[in-house]
Amino acid sequence: MTNRFQNKVVVVTGATSGIGLAAATLFSQEGASVFITGRRQEMLDAAVKTIGGRVTGVRGDMANLADIDRLYDAVQQQHGQIDVVFANAGGGEFAPFGAITEEHFDTTFDTNVKGTLFTVQKALPLLKDGGAVVLTGSTAGSEGTPAFSVYSASKAAVRNFARNWILDLKDRRIRVNVVSPGATRTPGLVGLAGDEAEKQQALLDVLSTRIPLGRVGEAREIANAILFLASEEASFVNGVEFFVDGGQAQT
Ligand SMILES: NC(=O)c1ccc[n+]([C@@H]2O[C@H](COP(=O)([O-])OP(=O)(O)OC[C@H]3O[C@@H](n4cnc5c(N)ncnc54)[C@H](OP(=O)(O)O)[C@@H]3O)[C@@H](O)[C@H]2O)c1
Repeated sequence: MTNRFQNKVVVVTGATSGIGLAAATLFSQEGASVFITGRRQEMLDAAVKTIGGRVTGVRGDMANLADIDRLYDAVQQQHGQIDVVFANAGGGEFAPFGAITEEHFDTTFDTNVKGTLFTVQKALPLLKDGGAVVLTGSTAGSEGTPAFSVYSASKAAVRNFARNWILDLKDRRIRVNVVSPGATRTPGLVGLAGDEAEKQQALLDVLSTRIPLGRVGEAREIANAILFLASEEASFVNGVEFFVDGGQAQT
């Protein structure tokens, strides 16, 4: 373990579970002061305990602009600046084309697209020049999946934010990159199969057959890539989509 994020202030949204929790834990272990969000208070309290170190939980829905303001008010009170924003809060559900509801569209785009946009835009006054932004995309953003079109379109939008924001932010040398996980064992992914362990394992087994490495990813493996993109080691990496998917998106 290194101390790549010693004295750095890192914001991770959607960090009470899965990929966000794994990334926030690693940032903390590498010396960062970490601010995390999630909508459920009990999950937030548990995550703060799990992560340890210098971590602050701010309950909030990243689709709600007032909640994002409260997040950055909390950061400002303690630090006055941010080194890294990992805009990760997101998720999706299956909805077959023909049965997509307005609510399904709004929920998905409000969190994944609107939430990502305002999480980063509202960070800008606090984000240091030369800082780093990492967005969570998905392999789904560049390939087809039955009954997953709204989620996939939302992640394609996230990927394109980075292409544009590197130009909008070039005078401030802020790097923006997208990490695009493939199927990764998280509560969010297995929950797509319902509550039964057998059905969840069946989903993971089916997904594994599409992955050249023959298995789904673990949240820690995605977190390793996120920390790389956020770190000085990636000082010339800007605007990329970094697939962490066992090779799936390249087949
Ligand atoms: N797992 C995969 O296979 C996979 C693959 C590609 C991309 N991704 C993406 O990776 C990201 C994390 O997914 P995950 O699999 O780790 O999911 P997860 O286990 O469901 O975790 C999602 C986290 O985000 C929080 N969250 C969700 N909506 C939020 C909102 N509106 N405001 C604030 N927090 C919110 C959740 O807490 P609350 O529910 O309490 O708010 C939770 O902490 C998502 O953007 C997802 O689309 C996942």
